[in-house]
Amino acid sequence: MLPPDYRFWSPSGALFPGGPHIWHIIDFDQRKWIAVSGPEKTLPEDTDAIEILKRNTDRLGPDVHRITVNEKGDIISISTKIKHDETEFVHYPRYDPQDMTYAGRATLTRSQMVEVDRVVPTIDLVRYEDGPGKAKLAIFKYTVMWRRMPQMWRELHIMMGLPRHEYIVPFSRIVLDDVDPRILGFTIDFIPGGTFDDNKTRPFRFAWLQQLTSVVDDLNLKFGIIHQDIAGRNIAVNPVTEKIQLFDFELSARLGTTEVDKHRSDIDGVIFTIYEILTLDEHFRYAVHHDDQDVKAVENMVDWDVKVAVEGGDEGVKKIRSFLAEWAEGRRLKERNGPITASSPLNWPEIPPDTPIPFMSYPDSENESSLKGKIYPSGYRRANDAMHSGQHVVPERIDKRKTKKQSAANSKPFCYNILIVLSSAVIPSNTQNIPASSSNNSTSPSASCLQNEKWGRQKKKKKKKKKKKKKKKKKKKKKKKKKHTSTIPLPAYSTNSSSPTSLSKNKPTKPKPCPL
Ligand SMILES: Nc1ncnc2c1ncn2[C@@H]1O[C@H](COP(=O)(O)OP(=O)(O)OP(=O)(O)O)[C@@H](O)[C@H]1O
Ligand SMILES: [Mg+2]
Repeated sequence: MLPPDYRFWSPSGALFPGGPHIWHIIDFDQRKWIAVSGPEKTLPEDTDAIEILKRNTDRLGPDVHRITVNEKGDIISISTKIKHDETEFVHYPRYDPQDMTYAGRATLTRSQMVEVDRVVPTIDLVRYEDGPGKAKLAIFKYTVMWRRMPQMWRELHIMMGLPRHEYIVPFSRIVLDDVDPRILGFTIDFIPGGTFDDNKTRPFRFAWLQQLTSVVDDLNLKFGIIHQDIAGRNIAVNPVTEKIQLFDFELSARLGTTEVDKHRSDIDGVIFTIYEILTLDEHFRYAVHHDDQDVKAVENMVDWDVKVAVEGGDEGVKKIRSFLAEWAEGRRLKERNGPITASSPLNWPEIPPDTPIPFMSYPDSENESSLKGKIYPSGYRRANDAMHSGQHVVPERIDKRKTKKQSAANSKPFCYNILIVLSSAVIPSNTQNIPASSSNNSTSPSASCLQNEKWGRQKKKKKKKKKKKKKKKKKKKKKKKKKHTSTIPLPAYSTNSSSPTSLSKNKPTKPKPCPL
């Protein structure tokens, strides 16, 4: 289960001067988008909208796409209209098994995985069969947002492309969609020991510092990769080998490219990380913007206020600090001597562009069964519009426009329906296969008499049918209600919520910036 602080996040909003303010919010628990609309004063920031949603979320049905609130923040209306469903379409890159990038890489489809737990948004703990009768636990990383695709693409190719490294979490599988061979994400091995952030009282070993500097050296100097997010929350300790394993390469960059952020040096990252693990003081990094973080303040501090047990006591701390200073100096000297050339630089293909499929959008349509949308040639689109234009949407959804259109067609004035009944009774058999659209052009008086007679009989039949349908609907509603109270109602793949792990319980409760 997702920790509450991770559940909601607002990627966008429509803010009209003088109001309303409409915030689009992703509910990562339900895997749906919902908009909160209200006066500018009540919803100046997305966080105000999220607070209101948090308070009310359990009262809202799964079909609610927008809530409107008054000045006090109370809900005054809800909308289930398709046009208010902001869920965006994610164009997952096509997987080509002939592409040499993927040669020898094992794949997995999403139905082959069982969700065991949600760790953070877009990261799940999953289980799958890794060989006959061999169940494996893994971390599944994916994206539900189109704009996050570059990060997913980058991390997939780095984790997949790096040779096996003792101090890096091993890559496991490329995850494909079942319907269309598209890359949804990837899995890496699950390290049950937890990260330094998960376990803040773990006595610190000098060897872990050596392992960290050695993996950072390999990444930077051998493979030309700058991790750019070295932190205790991205380093696990493997309980079997008792060695560290680095992960989370979504911010990583290729040396010598514009991807590199000079404010995210891995040398500084290592120094901050060791300081934070030992002192539990995170204010040098988390209270300050990257551009203004001052690693020298940490390095030049005479005494670190160490809160965690350290192997070798005070002497151990001294040893750590002098090793760190020497290593940093050596690396900085190398950088001063000119640009670093990696010995085996890692590279990967650019993310393929979206297939330019035109789509129909219905931004202003009040009448949702109308098909008078606007055609756009390509670009960002909502999931409903993409699906209605024939694109495969993950996770699958029902095309409500189509069903609405169909039900509208089915409930045309009754003479239309009756004429079809009539036609089977009085029209010679060789003309019975009249297409439905051409059968509503006859309105002869005799036909209308028969219509009324038949209509009476039909009415009774219909009443009976309606009663049956109502009963069925009630049963379904009851079932649905039960479902919606559970925390995992919209699985992207097969779920097994009955076997949660304690993983998410170990998460720190302090709010973190949403990883999306
Ligand atoms: N291989 C793994 N084994 C065990 N736990 C993991 C693993 N990978 C990720 N986690 C857990 O999931 C959390 C988030 O993973 P990760 O850092 O990859 O995601 P993120 O969204 O980039 O997070 P952030 O941006 O906050 O660092 C980790 O802090 C850790 O608790
Ligand atoms: Mg992380």
